[in-house]
Amino acid sequence: PLIGTKEMFARAYKEGYAIGAFNVNNMEIIQGIMEAAQEEKAPLILQVSAGARKYAGQVYIKKLIEAALVETDHPLALHLDHGQDFEICKQCIDGGFSSVMYDGSHLDFEENIAVTKQVVEYAHERGVVVEAELGRLAGIEDDVQSDKSIYTDPDQAVEFVERTGCDSLAIAIGTSHGAYKFTGEARLDFDRLEKITNMLPEYPIVLHGSSSVPQEFVEMANKYGGDIGAAKGVPEELLRKAATYGVCKINIDTDIRLAMTAVIRKHFAENPSHFDPRQYLKPARQAVKDMVQHKIKNVLGCSNKI
Ligand code: G3H
Ligand code: 13P
Ligand code: ZN
Ligand code: NA
Repeated sequence: PLIGTKEMFARAYKEGYAIGAFNVNNMEIIQGIMEAAQEEKAPLILQVSAGARKYAGQVYIKKLIEAALVETDHPLALHLDHGQDFEICKQCIDGGFSSVMYDGSHLDFEENIAVTKQVVEYAHERGVVVEAELGRLAGIEDDVQSDKSIYTDPDQAVEFVERTGCDSLAIAIGTSHGAYKFTGEARLDFDRLEKITNMLPEYPIVLHGSSSVPQEFVEMANKYGGDIGAAKGVPEELLRKAATYGVCKINIDTDIRLAMTAVIRKHFAENPSHFDPRQYLKPARQAVKDMVQHKIKNVLGCSNKI
């Protein structure tokens, strides 16, 4: 069944783990994630970005997730990732999503509050929960490229949550989107996270840009013709630590992309005669499953939590 995130987050908060929010773009990704979550009996959030809607089409992506709901009785939340305006949030709320993100992080404080409030009002009347964002992540956020991050101010976070009524808050403490998160040492601002958690007790915090960019997959891709370069993600132990604070939702997209691509490159190199897409999409789907299962067990800590 399709569920919201309220109870999921309340339990994650209490028990000090986090729930994985995985970006979905096609059938193989959805199937791989579903298999992993089912085997692990893990709470699950599938999220859809603007890029996913552009790639697969709004109807296709929604129907693929509905297929997963028909095939299994696994509870999951369907979430809009980085909704860029009220209209898209409304469209997804009307279209049956159980959770939406309104991302006003590029706006100034008051404007962000105004639109977030509008989304919250519309969503709550219809039983849908809202994630908002305060602070700015460096890197690529859909089509918006921001050069420098602006870490979330704890006092502003409290005021923002109070005034908007949003159900969870994405914050900036050093993570960023994509495969190139750090040039030097990887670090997150745990002092800031601790302060925010203390000032907003029992309130679910969200971390975007939380792929770990496993070197094993960068090396595999590069070994079989790739040229991925100095990719670097958030070390898994930092994510585990974040999950013991107020962080209840951890967003992962890049690691899924990386695993699929590395495995497909390897498959092509080892099987130059293959041309049936099922021959390489099958191991790619398996790679998604393995990656997600690893995250659930070893990073998020949410196995057997449903
Ligand atoms: O926030 C970024 C997510 O990784 C989604 O990326 O817009 O390329 O689908 P996308
Ligand atoms: P990554 O690029 O680190 O996987 O982050 C994904 C994300 O935050 C989606 O909203
Ligand atoms: Zn994000
Ligand atoms: Na947590």
